[in-house]
Amino acid sequence: MTVFNTKKEVETLVTSHKATKKTIGFVPTMGALHKGHLSLIQNAFDENDIVFVSIFVNPTQFDNNADLDKYPRTLDADVKLIESISDDIIVFAPSANEIYEQEITSKEYKFDGLEFEMEGKHRKGHFNGVGTILEILFKLVLPNKAYFGEKDFQQLQIVKKLTQKLKLDLDIVGCDIYREDSGLAMSSRNERLSLLARKEAAFIHKTLLAAKEKFGTKSAKEVTEWVTKQFAKNKKFNLEYVEIANIDTLKTVKRKSKNKKYRIFIAAFIENIRLIDNIALN
Ligand code: PAJ
Repeated sequence: MTVFNTKKEVETLVTSHKATKKTIGFVPTMGALHKGHLSLIQNAFDENDIVFVSIFVNPTQFDNNADLDKYPRTLDADVKLIESISDDIIVFAPSANEIYEQEITSKEYKFDGLEFEMEGKHRKGHFNGVGTILEILFKLVLPNKAYFGEKDFQQLQIVKKLTQKLKLDLDIVGCDIYREDSGLAMSSRNERLSLLARKEAAFIHKTLLAAKEKFGTKSAKEVTEWVTKQFAKNKKFNLEYVEIANIDTLKTVKRKSKNKKYRIFIAAFIENIRLIDNIALN
């Protein structure tokens, strides 16, 4: 298994693969890998000649230092999990200085309004940080395809916008949300929940599924009000937002149209851990 820490090593290997016209698949991550990440890596492995996985806890996308410090760092275990798919996958695990060189700051991006919805309202500067790190990594790894989870659906749409704006010759592949048996979306943050809270967190997905049922006959507003009420009744949770949005614009749905696709999005705290989830409604 190859683990690179420097950009130079990545550059050299990418140059030699490009010369032999090999296709490159790329899965950017922040590590603390779980089966959700592995499903992306497996897709990349199935569809490309070579695969890079980056493991880098990107400081510029955190709006809060405590959250950054608490983020789990488990490189050895991550490498073992990747090895369970193949020894041929290349891991890039750089330091913050290696990535940012001069100054650890974000560039400012315009994502045509996608950045102002949902997560953008609650995590200031987050998507500028995500854009900054992905621009650096895409220009280094030069992938043909890069894989992102629908778990972070807004991020997925923003990354598609980023590649359009930067005119990168790169396919962004969206991958299904991988869930625990209970329905809880897999997340590195689930590890921080008590056993009991982890069980109770299945309430999020259960409520989203019930909302989907209701969306057949009720308006978006009625459905979001219903979800809000369910969370108000459940004392374990603090709901941050629930939105039913058009999947392309991410704007809240005012009136349903048969020609548009919608998803329901949620962010909620349990035991002070912030969890997000979403499902397709039609
Ligand atoms: P991270 O949270 O590590 O996630 C890496 C990728 O795994 C993202 O595309 C995310 O959507 C996907 N993922 C996480 N949980 C998943 C699940 N349960 N099912 C399917 N996919 C899942 O997202 C980031 O890192 C960072 O913002 C990054 C893109 C690496 C930029 O720093």
